[in-house]
Amino acid sequence: MKIVNFSEQNSIVNQYLAEIRDVDYQKNRLLFRNNIQRIGELEAYEISKTLDYEARDITTPLGVSRMQVPTDKIVLATIFRAGLPFHNGFLNIFDHAGNAFVSAYREYVDEQHTKVGIHVEYLATPSIEGKNLIIADPMLATGGSMELGYKAFLTKGTPKRIHVACVIASPEGIEHIRKTFPEDKTTIWCAAIDPGLNEHKYIVPGFGDAGDLCYGEKV
Ligand code: URA
Repeated sequence: MKIVNFSEQNSIVNQYLAEIRDVDYQKNRLLFRNNIQRIGELEAYEISKTLDYEARDITTPLGVSRMQVPTDKIVLATIFRAGLPFHNGFLNIFDHAGNAFVSAYREYVDEQHTKVGIHVEYLATPSIEGKNLIIADPMLATGGSMELGYKAFLTKGTPKRIHVACVIASPEGIEHIRKTFPEDKTTIWCAAIDPGLNEHKYIVPGFGDAGDLCYGEKV
């Protein structure tokens, strides 16, 4: 399994992530969503370099240009609700992609709120057979919702490659993906890998609850 961690290089992604983490800056939901979207766009651009291409003649008003164009088919998948702005970033770059959605939510299964169960409720996806499946979810914390989402999408075919795309990953989440996704065709793309999870399974230092920061608190 390959891991691409953008924070290992100097790039503008680090500024977007710094703003996303900043406890004051992140209060502006519009800016927060926009930064998540921009990280999605830049990750998508990097993923575009890993696709298969072929030469095609494109007719311009003045002649014919031989261009390298991607032949790979892409399905962009995301997990409600926190993944939506991230998904939009990928869709801005891969505008011909199919789109898949799954709803999975975290529910504490003990009174101390230390054990998390994940429930899948809703699935809408095209076939993923032979496609590049990009699953965009901003926080790869335990990896549980990513795995359940992936298994739900797998009911609609076997992908050619799998891209697990997140903003921040935890070592626990990465380990979970390593154990549950196919080793030879999976890549994790992230803007940072943080040290770990707190007792509520939030990434620390992370940036907090992605869904609430995008769309407001829920009851
Ligand atoms: N989901 C979030 O929104 N934040 C975390 O830190 C972990 C999971």
